[in-house]
Amino acid sequence: MAASFLFSSFLLLLALCCGHAAAQNQTSSLHEGCIHLPVIHSTNVNYFAKRGVQLQLANRSDVAYYAQLSIGTPPQPVFVQLDTGSFELWVNPDCNTVSGPDAVFCQRIGQYDMSKSSTGNSLGTTKQLRYGIGSANITYVTDTISLAGSKTALQDVQFGVATSSEDAFSGILGVGYGDGIATKYLNFVDQLAIQNATRVKAYTIALGSKDAEEGVIVFGGVDTSKFGGALARLPIIPADQSPDLVPRFWIDMDSVSISPPSEQTREYAGSTMPVFLDSGSTMTLLPTNLTLAIASDFGSPAADANGFFRVDCALTEVEGSLDFAFDGVTVKVPYKELIREVPGSPPACFLGISPSESFTLLGDTFMRSAYTVFDLESNAIWMTQAANCGSTPAVLNNVSDLSRVTGACGLEPNSGVTAGSSAGSPVSDLGSGATGSTETGSTSRSQAPVSGAASAVSGALGLWWSLGITVVVSQLI
Ligand SMILES: *[C@@H]1O[C@H](CO)[C@@H](O)[C@H](O)[C@H]1NC(C)=O
Ligand SMILES: *[C@@H]1O[C@H](CO)[C@@H](O)[C@H](O)[C@H]1NC(C)=O
Ligand SMILES: *[C@@H]1O[C@H](CO)[C@@H](O)[C@H](O)[C@H]1NC(C)=O
Ligand SMILES: *[C@@H]1O[C@H](CO)[C@@H](O)[C@H](O)[C@H]1NC(C)=O
Ligand SMILES: *[C@@H]1O[C@H](CO)[C@@H](O)[C@H](O)[C@H]1NC(C)=O
Ligand SMILES: *[C@@H]1O[C@H](CO)[C@@H](O)[C@H](O)[C@H]1NC(C)=O
Repeated sequence: MAASFLFSSFLLLLALCCGHAAAQNQTSSLHEGCIHLPVIHSTNVNYFAKRGVQLQLANRSDVAYYAQLSIGTPPQPVFVQLDTGSFELWVNPDCNTVSGPDAVFCQRIGQYDMSKSSTGNSLGTTKQLRYGIGSANITYVTDTISLAGSKTALQDVQFGVATSSEDAFSGILGVGYGDGIATKYLNFVDQLAIQNATRVKAYTIALGSKDAEEGVIVFGGVDTSKFGGALARLPIIPADQSPDLVPRFWIDMDSVSISPPSEQTREYAGSTMPVFLDSGSTMTLLPTNLTLAIASDFGSPAADANGFFRVDCALTEVEGSLDFAFDGVTVKVPYKELIREVPGSPPACFLGISPSESFTLLGDTFMRSAYTVFDLESNAIWMTQAANCGSTPAVLNNVSDLSRVTGACGLEPNSGVTAGSSAGSPVSDLGSGATGSTETGSTSRSQAPVSGAASAVSGALGLWWSLGITVVVSQLI
């Protein structure tokens, strides 16, 4: 085990040395009880291109976010798409069903071969996983999973190995609710807590800006250098009171407003609604009339044949923002982060919001601008505006510590943070002391039998897939 740990962290250092000096420093500051992993944007050629050759991902920009796992003994590195909208981990998409640059990408993601792992076991059970876009038939196995840069190796973790897949160019790490809630076995997040890799069943995500091409996920902790000020606590709506009755990260959104440069902020009518946070969805999906009203303010009166609103690329240079308000915090999404820039000559730009009558979800085009803690223990989202002033991952001993956590970044006067000023002792409370609780995997939420779960987002999805857009929302439990 020691040898394989050294091996994998050596690999990580090597990879990070290629233009990721800041991240390299992180590996020397590992804390017991939390694990931080880089979140790699699919546009990041340092990871996904062939050496020296830019991978031409046709029309891809900012479309998906990946984390690296090391599966088996000795460890086999595999990238998986980080997805807060689903619940299970699976690997080995069928790269023969994808073509061109997608097939190259699919191969670069890495494949897991159980026969080459001395700790792998097939459970022999199968399942069909279906998402907003894509599906996979999997066989369940168990094996050791370690995380790059951490000495933690989780034993006997259950996950799926695809025997076939459709419209998928990578496996998925579903970090939604697990055992007894959305799955019938301990999922990856459950295992982190049960095997004491984390002290709390919570993790935080900073996807990073489009320009950064890299973010961070901290399992069991926070990174106080990715936000400023306090975090607002937003209760997760219980599944039985949620729009689709599925235990997702549903929260109440108070309003959406637009802050154009040198104009007054205007709130959209009918923008109060429950939304859920889905890192697996490229787009943010909102009701049709709200999307139309926003698109019209971006100078785009109608959607194209793919259901996208084309906007002027000059808007990415403009200082405006679309502001998403919640109880105690407003996340301002700069035009640049909201707009998808598709490479080409000339480049094409699209609003990062699409109409949907089935789902209201905040996807990557929102999440890049938010710093979000997913607290599966007390069923809350803690959120504020994302920032970036370094890397200081720290352990959470107890989720109630979150009310005392203060981000280290300076706040822009205009950052939109309205959460109350931080009460008392900041980060020094974290990561010290051995009195942390151990979450045992039970929560007060009853298992929600899922019925009437929404079906595919819209008929445009087949077209979206060919443009590399993902909507990872699993409907079936
Ligand atoms: C980064 O490295 C420097 C020098 O090695 C060290 O002093 C500093 O504490 C490190 N920072 C973190 C966050 O680990
Ligand atoms: C990329 O997008 C442009 C504009 O939507 C489209 O005309 C072109 O066919 C697309 N290219 C590929 C390879 O999908
Ligand atoms: C998964 O298996 C089902 C049932 O055998 C089949 O109908 C479906 O096409 C398969 N899906 C994929 C992606 O191969
Ligand atoms: C995790 O820690 C708890 C409390 O210290 C202990 O009872 C339990 O055995 C540990 N579990 C593992 C898998 O080490
Ligand atoms: C959208 O429709 C709803 C319900 O009809 C209405 O309450 C809301 O004001 C509309 N929103 C916009 C932006 O037109
Ligand atoms: C977590 O912290 C709160 C407030 O400090 C405390 O009341 C509670 O007992 C702690 N929980 C555990 C399990 O240590």
